[in-house]
Amino acid sequence: MFNKTLFLVRTTLKKIVKSKQEIRHALVGAPNVWKYTREFQFQFLLDQGLQKTDTLMDIGCGTLRGGIPMIQYLNKGNYYGMDVRDQVLDEGRKEIKAAKLEDKKPNLISFDHFSEVDLDAQFNVMFAFSVLFHLEDDIAASCFQFVAKSLAKNGAFYANVNMDDFEDGNWVEFPVVFRSQEFYNNLAAKNGMEVLVMGSMLELGHDTKKNSDTQQIMLKFTKV
Ligand SMILES: C[S@@+](CC[C@H](N)C(=O)[O-])C[C@H]1O[C@@H](n2cnc3c(N)ncnc32)[C@H](O)[C@@H]1O
Repeated sequence: MFNKTLFLVRTTLKKIVKSKQEIRHALVGAPNVWKYTREFQFQFLLDQGLQKTDTLMDIGCGTLRGGIPMIQYLNKGNYYGMDVRDQVLDEGRKEIKAAKLEDKKPNLISFDHFSEVDLDAQFNVMFAFSVLFHLEDDIAASCFQFVAKSLAKNGAFYANVNMDDFEDGNWVEFPVVFRSQEFYNNLAAKNGMEVLVMGSMLELGHDTKKNSDTQQIMLKFTKV
């Protein structure tokens, strides 16, 4: 009886009191799935053949929910993350410190417009996890120009998008957009890239029992 009550109190408390990391990563998504989403992102990139020697750009890296294992794995200086919100980048820096990864010299870039970002680096791998569907169409267009400019000749850009025929909505200060495959085909073609549809997030192993698992499709963009 006592053990059962203790168990109930503990589980209730766990639901109410969020851990430091749950609070931090709530800035980029549902707090209860941050670890799952972290592991999914890293495993996805490994499955695509990510090498320690690759130079990776994590567009819309946020609090480094996904970035931490990438930083851990990649060679020193090879992780780049960029975001438009200083607050999430600050949390990302705390996450790097807590994980004792400062020696890996990750590059975190704060910016306002893709057109103003001028980096002295080319990336083998570019990744935008749960980011493209938060971009207005004109911002998506400049994002693709940035990708075309920064992607190495044989590199790949991976991004999940919302492809269902739903009305656009909002998430914090950003929109949530649903666009057709044609929309992304056009963006790719305009920027000298082609698109491969990799499948839904669920088909790729992302199973959080939410509609987004099937609504979101992973796309791979490569240079023609
Ligand atoms: C759903 S969160 C995903 C964060 C991270 N990729 C992850 O999976 O943990 C979307 C992120 O995109 C960022 N974002 C929104 N608009 C952006 C833009 N125009 N350029 C770059 N990042 C943007 C937000 O600040 C936010 O951190």
